[in-house]
Amino acid sequence: MAIILDGKAYASVVKEKTKAEVERLGLTPGLAVVIVGDDGASRIYVNNKKKDCAECGIKSEEFALPAEAGQDKLLGLIDELNNRDDINGILVQLPLPEGYDEQVVIQAIAPHKDVDAFHMENVGRVMDGNFTFAPCTPYGVMRLLEHHGIDPAGKHCVVVGRSNIVGKPMAMLLLHKHATVTICHSRTPDLAEMTRKADILVAAVGKPKLITADMVKPGAVVIDVAINRGDDGKLCGDVDYAPVEEIASHITPVPGGVGPMTRAILMENTVIAAKKASGK
Ligand code: GUN
Repeated sequence: MAIILDGKAYASVVKEKTKAEVERLGLTPGLAVVIVGDDGASRIYVNNKKKDCAECGIKSEEFALPAEAGQDKLLGLIDELNNRDDINGILVQLPLPEGYDEQVVIQAIAPHKDVDAFHMENVGRVMDGNFTFAPCTPYGVMRLLEHHGIDPAGKHCVVVGRSNIVGKPMAMLLLHKHATVTICHSRTPDLAEMTRKADILVAAVGKPKLITADMVKPGAVVIDVAINRGDDGKLCGDVDYAPVEEIASHITPVPGGVGPMTRAILMENTVIAAKKASGK
């Protein structure tokens, strides 16, 4: 039976500390949350982020544009937010509807307000290892590992998924902590052969039950980043949870694992941005 890496519980601690830091600084950090179109999952994520802001003493302002607003209108809004002193962080919820170029939109966000760390300047800093903001999901995973005394140094970490948001920066953050890292993806010929070598296995693909028990080394740490809707309508990750939990040493549940950590780090990043802007 694995130890459960309870992201929900630790995220509450991180948010409490963030709230205390806001009070200590005597600032009201501002986060602009931009949502375009009517994607149901995005709406839930945005509502959760607004709730977290309220818990931490951060002022959140939502900007909801219809899908037909168009990229120029969105870029105009980002420009306005870049120039507002009361807004410290700008988050454009992804994915954007068809017709928008996500890269163009993300690169329009001022790097010092890019609390997602998706702007090229911040991507480069993460690559270099000298960063102000780290992307919320992979950094949330690192913090959860650290909190449970799991040190990636010298371990073989296998990251399944190569997205810009999770897979690539996850690999980089593990590398900075002296892990040996393998990144697998849809064209990896024998995925199971690779995952069985993992001391720490991170699944970030978006396919229910992709990682079955025979693909996991007994005693491995298993991190499930995905949030999928299973055939039974319930939320699930990429890991076939019940049988994998029998053999792993540690495992993140879905929901209640990585997701809450992502949001807690977003709060931290917003406070870091506000602190820097204030010169405190
Ligand atoms: N969509 C899925 N994950 C994320 C995230 O971390 N940030 C933003 N902006 N959009 C997302």
